Amino acid sequence: MRNFNNIIVTGGSGFIGANFIRHILSDTDFAGRIINVDKLTYAGNPENLQDVVGGIDESRYVFSRTDICDYDAIDSLFAKYNVDCVIHFAAESHVDRSIHGPGEFVRTNINGTFTLLEAARKYWADNKETLFHHVSTDEVFGSLGETGYFFEDTPYDPRSPYSASKASSDHLVQAYHHTYGLNITMSNCTNNYGPYQFPEKLIPVMVLNILAGKDLPIYGDGQNIRDWLYVIDHNTAIWDIVTKGRIGETYNIGGENEWTNLDLVNSLCEIMAELTGKDNKDFYKKLITYVKDRLGHDRRYAINCDKIKGELGWKQSVTFAEGLKETLKWYLENDEWIENIKSGSYLEWMDKNYETR
Ligand code: NAD
Ligand code: TYD
Repeated sequence: MRNFNNIIVTGGSGFIGANFIRHILSDTDFAGRIINVDKLTYAGNPENLQDVVGGIDESRYVFSRTDICDYDAIDSLFAKYNVDCVIHFAAESHVDRSIHGPGEFVRTNINGTFTLLEAARKYWADNKETLFHHVSTDEVFGSLGETGYFFEDTPYDPRSPYSASKASSDHLVQAYHHTYGLNITMSNCTNNYGPYQFPEKLIPVMVLNILAGKDLPIYGDGQNIRDWLYVIDHNTAIWDIVTKGRIGETYNIGGENEWTNLDLVNSLCEIMAELTGKDNKDFYKKLITYVKDRLGHDRRYAINCDKIKGELGWKQSVTFAEGLKETLKWYLENDEWIENIKSGSYLEWMDKNYETR
């Protein structure tokens, strides 16, 4: 079991990174310091962590507003904090945005990861034990038909600018391990859901639109399939990998929980009706609206995660019904978080993405 004193978490103010820091500081016996390195793009929100890190001192948590493409800044953070682990979440993460503007995805996901690896390579010369964990996605494997699963050794076949940029970063991480001997681990995970997810992804878009009585936009025929995992379960898996995983290995993480978008949105409508006290469970379903399909829309993702289950003893902790109910309750109880999110950039995005469909 590896122990760490100073962990750099990149993208720790985003959806999964913030849930990760919350989990590590509150629910594990980690006694060291987290250095959260985040540029605070539209998706980064310091409010996501305020209650956990508010009163905490610098021996446990430090925030640095830094772009991962800034080599000098990253280089000095490594030296200043004696870093023994990097967990790299920071990325541009939304497929639709990558279709509207791929440049930022190439910059952050490819050049940013390259910059981090370069700074790490220099630091490694005297700190050979330091671990670099790269957080990636199942989307690098492409799109499945009605059957089959992605395994760790499935050939890469990315099809969107987002997945192509993530695939490229995955290859760089592997190359730095094979060429320079950097200590790395990697994970490829399916779609996450849970609290603090920015309302551009499917579940929070639907939740906010249900609350506002707006249309629920289903792309294409609504039969695309995603495999959904509660964000806490993604984070317990990452912690298992960094503390116990084999160096140089990739682990797939999944929910084993496949849903068509249409069935999922129907289910969200039913849970919301129950939580908001509507007698008719179909009350919100009338809002469902079919809109133009996403360009190059991947049909199905599904992960085989036997490796992490068998090797590290990880497993999912909640059913989809439980996780969804908790998530929807969280959105209902956190209207202030939602109001604060509804900034110019959020509204601009909603206009741009949905007006053209
Ligand atoms: P997110 O968009 O919610 O958060 C990304 C964070 O990275 C934000 O805090 C943002 O400010 C920060 N960031 C962006 N560009 C940066 C830069 N140049 N320098 C420093 N910080 C920067 O993303 P997320 O959903 O939390 O995803 C986190 C990671 O997990 C990503 O690498 C993503 O590819 C991967 N992943 C996500 C999912 C999912 O369902 N959301 C599934 C599998 C893998
Ligand atoms: P998304 O949450 O963007 O994740 P990803 O594309 O990375 O899987 O989308 C999940 C699925 O939901 C995907 O098939 C696209 C679809 N979708 C809609 O039908 N309507 C929407 O408004 C959004 C945001 C997504």
